Amino acid sequence: MGKIKFIKEFLKNWKEVGSVIPSCRFLAGKMLGPIDFKKAGVIVEIGPGLGCFTNKILEMMDEDTKLIIFEINPDFCRELDKNKDSRLTIFNVSALDMAYHLKEIKADYVISGIPLSTLANDSRGLLFKAIKNILSEGGVYVQFQYSLGAYKKLKSVFKKVALKFTLFNAPPAFVYQCVKESSDSDS
Ligand SMILES: C[S@@+](CC[C@H](N)C(=O)[O-])C[C@H]1O[C@@H](n2cnc3c(N)ncnc32)[C@H](O)[C@@H]1O
Repeated sequence: MGKIKFIKEFLKNWKEVGSVIPSCRFLAGKMLGPIDFKKAGVIVEIGPGLGCFTNKILEMMDEDTKLIIFEINPDFCRELDKNKDSRLTIFNVSALDMAYHLKEIKADYVISGIPLSTLANDSRGLLFKAIKNILSEGGVYVQFQYSLGAYKKLKSVFKKVALKFTLFNAPPAFVYQCVKESSDSDS
């Protein structure tokens, strides 16, 4: 059922949705691997789609951890909203505007499914800056991509970028883990 809805949304707006089907549990494992669920206070997820990472995060996080989601697609938001977990907050706005909605809140982790390859160059740069801006010091940004197209740009924004790969996803995916360090400026 979820897959059909996802394909329909992809056909309506392939650039924004970026993938024909949702990610699988192996990629979810790689994406959530860096999260220390015992210590995480605030986790932000951007581009959750129908929630394949969201549900796993909710399963694993503590009672007093907050999960804040930014998803641009209203149909996906309606589906995500069926999840009545009080730890979850959903914003149906672009992740580019998240600083405005988060106000003073800083994230320990940003988990992203946003398709970087179909974003315009300017928007990609703005997105990386927006993410760095809302991360606390030592906070980690995790992003998957089906190519290495964003690696160079990410390295220019975050000094510390580690790269992982999983064959067990359709298509196989790279996972970037970027750490916000005190020497990284917010600009
Ligand atoms: C490739 S899908 C990933 C969905 C899910 N995380 C997964 O891995 O299956 C990309 C998602 O990013 C959302 N998206 C694209 N641009 C966005 C933006 N600027 N802000 C928030 N969400 C965005 C799309 O609507 C879509 O749900």
